[in-house]
Amino acid sequence: NPDVDEIDYDESKHEGVAPEQTHVKTTRYARTLSREFNAVVVEHHLKWAPMCVDEPGPCPGGESSNRLGRYDFHHADAIVDWAIKHNMKVKGHVLAWHVTSPGSLLEEMSPQQVKEELRRHIFTTMGHFYGRIKTWDVVNEALAPDGSLADSVFLRKLGPGYIEQCFRWAHQADPDAILLYNDNKVEGMNGPNARKADAFYQLLADLKRRNVPIHGCGIQAHFNASGVGKNRPPTPRMVKNQIHRIGKLGLSVNISEMDVRVSQLPPNLRQIAQRQIYRDIIAAALTESCFDGIWTWGFTDRHTWVTHFYYDDEPLLFDEEYTRKEAYYGLREAL
Ligand code: XIL
Repeated sequence: NPDVDEIDYDESKHEGVAPEQTHVKTTRYARTLSREFNAVVVEHHLKWAPMCVDEPGPCPGGESSNRLGRYDFHHADAIVDWAIKHNMKVKGHVLAWHVTSPGSLLEEMSPQQVKEELRRHIFTTMGHFYGRIKTWDVVNEALAPDGSLADSVFLRKLGPGYIEQCFRWAHQADPDAILLYNDNKVEGMNGPNARKADAFYQLLADLKRRNVPIHGCGIQAHFNASGVGKNRPPTPRMVKNQIHRIGKLGLSVNISEMDVRVSQLPPNLRQIAQRQIYRDIIAAALTESCFDGIWTWGFTDRHTWVTHFYYDDEPLLFDEEYTRKEAYYGLREAL
């Protein structure tokens, strides 16, 4: 953001974060977010389950069951409209992710009903945000750790073709939208999760080969600085090589959800280790022309999903008092 110490800022490389609606109402959060970043991705409230309001009623075939119908967009609208008001790009996350879909209702439905509901969700959501969100994570985390397709209600009801189908629906809903596939532990070629990273690449290559309307991908980059084995971070060279080969498919790549856990390191090593990872991974990514965005998953340690889903940690660029950390300067060095 050029307001910050006049850095040479490449507007085409978006830095995004993942705010919650309540956060953007707090002054320090909002002020820091609008000063330091030029893009946001909605952390939770633009997903299917958080937006949909179940309503009882007959299904098309006449079976009596709950159906999905009404949407409550006000949380997501608040963030999206705040971002647009502050001249920030918004990335839509995420149209089809089984983890935050109304799974219990979908499980009760026939394959045809699930297909109809998923299609309706994509058209309803993209239609609601039409003109405000032009970049979408269409499908998220469809791969299992071993590189096979992850078990999900979508896979079981619609088969492996659901991924392609979601992209085709999204393209029909908004032919001008940028459509992305997003996943985690796929960041490094020949790295700690090589099988999944290779499967990620093959999935993208296969979608392109079949002329599926896909424009790019997100590699989440949820790293643990003290991770070992499959949980250790990939090296910058591994990340560069993964981005490079995806770029040769004609696809863009963004780092979509970066955070770097450090709490399991000795306290005196945490800041410098974190700074090095942010700096070196992002510097390596930026050497690839297909790389077009850096999104952290939150920006202040005061609001990080890590603490809710893992343990207390300080994985982000600003501390709980919104002070820039070593990690912030590491990212700045990379830029
Ligand atoms: C997480 C959010 O941070 C949580 O608030 C929510 O309860 C669950 O989802 N990969 C993703 C993100 O693609 O959507 C997840 O976000 C984190 C893992």
